Amino acid sequence: MELLPFALDPVRGRAAPECHLRVDENEKGAIREQAARCVEVQLEDALDAELACNALVGEGRVDVAVADDILPRLEGGLDNPVDELGAGRREERGLCPGAHLQPVEKQPAHLLAERRPAGLARADDVAALRAERLGKQLRLGRLAGPVQAFEGEEHRRRTIRRVRAVVTGGAGFIGSHVVDGLLARGDEVHVLDDLSSGKRANVAPGARLHEGDIRQDAGGLFAEVRPEVCFHLAAQIDVRLSVERPDHDAAVNVIGTLNVLEAARGCGAKVVFSSTGGAIYGECHEPATEDHPRRPLAPYGVSKLAAEEYIAAYNRLYGAGHVSLRYGNVYGPRQDPHGEAGVVGIFMERLHEGRAPRIYGNGTQTRDYIFVADVVAATLAAAGHDGGVFNVGSGVETSVLDLYERVQRVAGVERPAEFADARPGEVQRSVLDPSLAQRELRWKPRRSLDEGLAETWAWISAQ
Ligand SMILES: NC(=O)c1ccc[n+]([C@@H]2O[C@H](COP(=O)([O-])OP(=O)(O)OC[C@H]3O[C@@H](n4cnc5c(N)ncnc54)[C@H](O)[C@@H]3O)[C@@H](O)[C@H]2O)c1
Repeated sequence: MELLPFALDPVRGRAAPECHLRVDENEKGAIREQAARCVEVQLEDALDAELACNALVGEGRVDVAVADDILPRLEGGLDNPVDELGAGRREERGLCPGAHLQPVEKQPAHLLAERRPAGLARADDVAALRAERLGKQLRLGRLAGPVQAFEGEEHRRRTIRRVRAVVTGGAGFIGSHVVDGLLARGDEVHVLDDLSSGKRANVAPGARLHEGDIRQDAGGLFAEVRPEVCFHLAAQIDVRLSVERPDHDAAVNVIGTLNVLEAARGCGAKVVFSSTGGAIYGECHEPATEDHPRRPLAPYGVSKLAAEEYIAAYNRLYGAGHVSLRYGNVYGPRQDPHGEAGVVGIFMERLHEGRAPRIYGNGTQTRDYIFVADVVAATLAAAGHDGGVFNVGSGVETSVLDLYERVQRVAGVERPAEFADARPGEVQRSVLDPSLAQRELRWKPRRSLDEGLAETWAWISAQ
């Protein structure tokens, strides 16, 4: 873990030796000057879900409409997160003057690592660390005055902390957006993907693609890269295939996840796991909270649940602090229209090709659709949590008929759908209650369904 050198605190702001007992006016000036040149960061901001989401905005591979949409809402804020976190501006923001500060800068990272070896530092760590160090300074006889003045300045600034991350499945739909989000924050990103359904072209040039299988190659890669965090998105995601070949599904989703967990354990990395709400809860009569009975219908849901249980066991056994996220039906640019929840992609692809989509059953079945940028924001935010299970959905039920109406509207096309027999075993209602994630991850979905559909259509139309 590495704190960027421009993150200042009363001690780091000066390269002065510890034995200085007072700070004169010249020194105060030097401290302020240093502060003005540097961008100051707070760890809680670096992990803020909304900022993580906004990090996507500056990235050209996510549709430009995202930026158009969000910028007016951000204008006039205390700090403009788009500007703060935009990928292209890292150098400009001075990462960083003051190489001479480096040895002192390393210190907090080391102390934080001791506090929470398996996880990422959180705001309370930083506060405790600051208090501890301030206490030490006072014991050393330092003057409180300049420290307090500096602290005031400090809180108006933001902190960015770089992490070294492995994204399994980072060449896939959601994983590639997670990669983009990490790169936009300035993180070091390695992708482990066997390209079985993912595409090389999805991986942004700033990330390093390691072509390999989570069942064999996770250990070697983690030993080489020594990531601090792993976003584990590689999976067999085809529900129908899981019925036909449950052994294959379990091999990738259970054994593969175990390999990732062992690899992460070997280097103390935290794991954020992409689970599924839709396939784990089964039939929902109201928005499912995390303690809703789990009744997966297909082996895919069973294997995801088994992986979650291993993660919970590793948390109990090793205090690992891993997080499982139960995604709703994710949609957005780069989605393969044949995936677990590809209905948005399927509808749009058909309309784009001038064909009518097919609706199975009467179309009253409901799902919880969530835009991929919102999922990325939750996923990045989860890296700062101590461990648990969280729903990542909109909390809104949308029927397939309603969805198709909306898709036609954003596409500006009217074409009656074809209807086919309901598929056996299909869940009628599925919707997730995201309030726990809102409370604990400080995350909430920012895109309405219509906004997300418009961005997805813009991407499909541009293909
Ligand atoms: N798309 C959704 O709506 C949705 C909903 C709930 C959960 N999820 C979960 O989110 C994650 C990502 O889903 P997605 O929609 O982006 O799917 P995706 O198929 O686009 O991405 C999965 C990636 O994993 C890779 N992969 C598969 N098996 C692998 C293996 N053995 N070793 C290495 N790489 C392997 C694939 O090549 C692909 O790039 C999955 O874990 C999925 O179960 C997705």
